[in-house]
Amino acid sequence: MLRLGVIGCGRIAQKKHTEAIIKNSDIIENVAVCDIVSERAEIFAQKITEINLKKPEIYTDYKTLLKRDDIDAVAIATESGNHYEITIEALQNNKHVLVEKPMALSTFHADEMIKLAKNKNLKLGVCFQNRFNPPIQELRRKIENNAFGKILHGVASIRWNRNKEYYQQAPWRGTWKYDGGTLMNQCTHNIDLLIWNMGSEIEEVYGVIKNFTHPYIEAEDFGGAIIKFKNGSVGIIEGTSNIYPKNLEETLSIFGERGTVVIGGLAVNKIKYWRFEGEDGHPFQNLPDPDTVYGSGHVPLYRNFYETIVKDQEPYINGEEGKKAVEAVLGIYKSSREGKAIKFPVEFSTLEML
Ligand SMILES: NC(=O)c1ccc[n+]([C@@H]2O[C@H](COP(=O)([O-])OP(=O)(O)OC[C@H]3O[C@@H](n4cnc5c(N)ncnc54)[C@H](O)[C@@H]3O)[C@@H](O)[C@H]2O)c1
Repeated sequence: MLRLGVIGCGRIAQKKHTEAIIKNSDIIENVAVCDIVSERAEIFAQKITEINLKKPEIYTDYKTLLKRDDIDAVAIATESGNHYEITIEALQNNKHVLVEKPMALSTFHADEMIKLAKNKNLKLGVCFQNRFNPPIQELRRKIENNAFGKILHGVASIRWNRNKEYYQQAPWRGTWKYDGGTLMNQCTHNIDLLIWNMGSEIEEVYGVIKNFTHPYIEAEDFGGAIIKFKNGSVGIIEGTSNIYPKNLEETLSIFGERGTVVIGGLAVNKIKYWRFEGEDGHPFQNLPDPDTVYGSGHVPLYRNFYETIVKDQEPYINGEEGKKAVEAVLGIYKSSREGKAIKFPVEFSTLEML
């Protein structure tokens, strides 16, 4: 059994990390939970006990939790702006780390996290759980079998709605120090999927960000970008939290010489078009939308994290993979600020947007 601590017991932790722990209770024991608001840790712990699992011990100071020698790994689901600090401290205390997306808000921080995990021979996994969505796994098989031939262009569209109430629930959201805007928060999943499936490093990015309808947040509620990949292909990103009156879709489109795939639905969970020679359509065209936009990917993500620890392999989404979408968004921010295309690699932080 992997002995796990959870740090940060807010919205995503209560909705999805509890589910992942419960559904993996044959391999993971949640021995401790921590939130600076003890009631949230208590709610999380209660959920864990609902199927007769032992109640995890509650902490309000993560540093005390990290001192426990009987904890092998921690999952970190605090606000994005302190993922770096808590991850570094967890690694220093010899814990494997599964960190929520985005792993950090600065390329320097992401690099330090990756380096320390390597030096300590510990695993660093990142919660880009949509990579496990069944239609995305189907797409991945086609990419890995080279079924598209040359990939020409890909598009990540995130057309969602986030209202004032959402930002009031947690004042860190939309701040440059703790979050970034819609590209860094809501859109990083699809940006990750786009980069992963285009299969090439980024050469340069040109981006524009705007704040159209959320004057009470610092960062953007709209971002548009064009990415030039080193292999000659082009990526287009369109991300917004302004769609009236509610979430519309999150869609990933990949266009190759010999294949077309469009995966949409509320959160890249439904195949819309699936065209290859001799194939027009796919059984996943009629999948229902999941209960939330977060899907169910945390369950296989946790299982993979466990397996990589016991088999000493790299997590499916390791630190290097987790950094790519962060770097892309930071490149877009930098490009928008400077009004020109930005060459990669990028060295930037959301704090530079202040
Ligand atoms: N993977 C996904 O699909 C997904 C979805 C939503 C959010 N997220 C990410 O998860 C993170 C949390 O988002 P959320 O919406 O759950 O936020 P939230 O504000 O609901 O939860 C964050 C929790 O962390 C706690 N916290 C803050 N500092 C702490 C500390 N030092 N020690 C212990 N607890 C601390 C807060 O009290 C709060 O309960 C963000 O990074 C966000 O980007 C990921």
